[in-house]
Amino acid sequence: MRRKVTVVGAGNVGASCAQLLAQRDYANVVLVDIIEGMPQGKALDLRQAGPIRYYDTNVTGTNNYEDTANSEVVVITSGVPRKPGMTRDDLVLTNMKIVQGVTEQIAKYSPKCIIIMVANPLDAMAQLALHVSKFPRNRVIGMSGVLDTARFRTFVAMELGVSVEDVSAVILGGHGDTMVPITRLAAVGGVPLSELMPADKIAAIAKRTVSGGAEIVALLKTGSAFYAPGAGAALIVDSIMLDKKRILPCSSYLEGEYDIKGVFVGVPAKIGKDGIEKIIEVKLMPEESAALKKSADAVMELVKIMKI
Ligand SMILES: NC(=O)c1ccc[n+]([C@@H]2O[C@H](COP(=O)([O-])OP(=O)(O)OC[C@H]3O[C@@H](n4cnc5c(N)ncnc54)[C@H](O)[C@@H]3O)[C@@H](O)[C@H]2O)c1
Repeated sequence: MRRKVTVVGAGNVGASCAQLLAQRDYANVVLVDIIEGMPQGKALDLRQAGPIRYYDTNVTGTNNYEDTANSEVVVITSGVPRKPGMTRDDLVLTNMKIVQGVTEQIAKYSPKCIIIMVANPLDAMAQLALHVSKFPRNRVIGMSGVLDTARFRTFVAMELGVSVEDVSAVILGGHGDTMVPITRLAAVGGVPLSELMPADKIAAIAKRTVSGGAEIVALLKTGSAFYAPGAGAALIVDSIMLDKKRILPCSSYLEGEYDIKGVFVGVPAKIGKDGIEKIIEVKLMPEESAALKKSADAVMELVKIMKI
């Protein structure tokens, strides 16, 4: 019997994520959406890519949560993306209704699963899913830092003309304008970035990273980024399903780590078969710590709006 992963929301991010997961060939993929026929059509299309891309993954599309039963991991991408000029936070009231209903169904049919939240505003939606599912905190993960650090790594590699694979970066905080790039910890092949690039250039890259999503929204004009976000979610699924114990920046529910309690923010975490298996605490400079607290407060404001 093949294992099962569900992706809720068969739109841009969900379909991109499902395509990457299908190519991994370790689990069947169920694609869910409210639109009739659309997830079924995309699933059939993805299956037909199997003979060309060498995978036997059974991808199925559905509008019915019974078909998702006993999934090991569920990626939630159902939600409205932002339009030019909007912040992610502007989506909170619309997406909370969607995420609440979806989480109830997921918790009912896959009570042992690990949820990876992708819908925005990311940290608040992860908190909503934790609240609604009543899962332990290790089984609700927000995908944000994988994308944000990928953006930072891309810009550094573009600037230095090096492989993206050799660039590492640490970004903490909420997935929004208050995110905190810890640039002093960025490195290229183990060499501190500060030895390879002037401080003003590093600051400019950090700034571009923080507004990296908005840059793409402005170019696309309708919808937001989806290839890199889909890949980010698939990477976390990999680390869980293959128990890889990757250290990935993930939005996690903090219970005192970093002196923050009762809210989701992005921190480095060990991701394995049990979801978030350990939260890694990085020693921060006072100004970094203050910026992280400010970011957590911004997430808390959204949580208050949701009244959960
Ligand atoms: N965390 C991140 O880093 C990140 C990055 C990019 C996008 N996002 C967010 O991901 C979400 C999806 O973005 P997208 O570009 O794929 O949007 P999209 O509009 O292309 O797809 C969303 C899909 O969700 C479906 N949907 C809506 N309500 C549903 C429900 N109740 N049940 C099942 N499906 C439902 C829609 O029919 C649609 O197909 C947005 O909220 C966006 O802001 C997050």
